[in-house]
Amino acid sequence: MPIEDITQKVSERYANAASTGEQMCCPTSYDMGYLKTFIPEEVLKISYGCGTPAGLKTVRAGETVLDIGSGGGIDCFEASRLVGPTGRVIGIDMTDTMLEIARKNAVVVATNLGYPSSNVEFRKGLADAMPVDDGTIDLIISNCVINLAPDKRKVFREMYRVAKPGGRFTISDIVADQTVPQYLVHDTQKWGDCLSGALTLTDYMNGMTAAGFFGIHLVKFSPWRVIDGIHFFSVTLTGYKIPPATTASSVRYATLRGPFSRLVDERGMTYYRGTPQSITPDESRLLSLPSFSEHFLLTTEPIPLDNHDPRWRAVLPADAPCTWQGHYALLAGPFVEAADDDHHVYRRGEPLEVCSKTVAVLGTDGYQPHFVLLNRAGEGAGGEAVTCSPDGGCC
Ligand SMILES: C[S@@+](CC[C@H](N)C(=O)[O-])C[C@H]1O[C@@H](n2cnc3c(N)ncnc32)[C@H](O)[C@@H]1O
Repeated sequence: MPIEDITQKVSERYANAASTGEQMCCPTSYDMGYLKTFIPEEVLKISYGCGTPAGLKTVRAGETVLDIGSGGGIDCFEASRLVGPTGRVIGIDMTDTMLEIARKNAVVVATNLGYPSSNVEFRKGLADAMPVDDGTIDLIISNCVINLAPDKRKVFREMYRVAKPGGRFTISDIVADQTVPQYLVHDTQKWGDCLSGALTLTDYMNGMTAAGFFGIHLVKFSPWRVIDGIHFFSVTLTGYKIPPATTASSVRYATLRGPFSRLVDERGMTYYRGTPQSITPDESRLLSLPSFSEHFLLTTEPIPLDNHDPRWRAVLPADAPCTWQGHYALLAGPFVEAADDDHHVYRRGEPLEVCSKTVAVLGTDGYQPHFVLLNRAGEGAGGEAVTCSPDGGCC
C-alpha cells in the first residue's frame, strides 16, 4: 500500500470517528472525573489514546509542549493546565475534523482554567513534516499516533529537530512483540486500529536513538491485545536531547557501582562494576541523566570499587532451586545491554525468560525500575523446580 494511501485512509478513519463519537483504540487511565471539570465532553468522548503522556508528572510550569497527533485535544488541554498561563502548547494533527473540535474547545478550556486567552494552538500538519520551528520545544508528547505514521524514522528525526537542546519526549504508543507480518501491514482497517503500523519495542527505541535522542527508557508498559499470536502492548517511553556542554566539566571517569555487573550505554560504551572507565564530556553528560546517574560514580580521578566498599552494589540470587513459571524480564532501558550476577544478558526492549530466583533479584531496588516482568505461562504451566548445574549456569 503506498504511503499516501495509508495516511489518507487513517485520516478518513479518524475524521469519521470524530464526527460520530465512535469509541476507538485502547485503554487509558485518565482521571476523567477531574478532566471533566475543565475539558468539555465533546473532547473527552473522542479520546483515542493509549496512555496519559501529559498526566505523568512530565509537564512543567512555563514550558512549551508539542503534542503530535493531538486529535480532539485531550492531552493538549491537560498540558495547558500544567504549563500554566505562562506556558504554551502546540497540537499538530492532519485531520480537519479533529482540528475543528480541538480549536473550538480551546476557548472553553481557557475560560474554565481562568486564563486571559488560550495558551493552546492547533496546527494542521503531518507528524513527519511538522510545522514547528527548529529547537523550540521543551517537551514532546504524543498519544497513540506514531504507530499510524508510515515513516516512523522521519517522525523521530522531526521530533529531534524541533526539540530544544535539553528537551525531552514522553510518548505513549502501541508496539508489538515481533515484526508485524506483511498480511497485517497491508490491512487498511488494522492501520486505523493502531495494529498494522506497530514497531517492535526494540525498533522503536533504536529508532529514537538513531534520531539522536538518549536515555530512552520505558516508563509504562501494559499488555493490550493478542492477534494471530502477536502480542501488542501499550507503552510510554521517555528520552532526552542532550544539550551541548556550556561549561568545562572536571568529570573524567565513571565507575559502575552496580547492581548490574556490566552495562552498555547508547553510545556503545561498556562499563564493568567497580572498574573506573575514562569518559568524554559527552559520556559524562549522558551518565548524568536521570536513570543513569544512580548507577555511577562520576569523578575527576579514577576510583576503583571492590565488594567491601559500601558504594558497591550486588544482588545475588537465593541459594534455592529455580522454578520456571513463565516469567520474562524485559529491560526497560536506558542501557542497551546489561548483565546481572547470574549469567543473564538483557537487551533493551527484548523479553528474556527468567526463573523464580531471578524474578526475586529483579524485584530489588536497584534493578526494579529497569525491568518489566511479564508472565506468558498458560493455564497448564506447572512450574517445576530444577536443580542448577554446579557452575550455576542453568538460570
Ligand atoms: C489514535 S488518535 C489519537 C488522538 C489523540 N492523541 C488522543 O489521545 O485522543 C490519532 C490521531 O493522530 C492523527 N494522525 C494520525 N497519523 C498522523 C500523521 N501522520 N500526522 C499527523 N496526525 C496524524 C489522527 O488524525 C488522529 O487525530
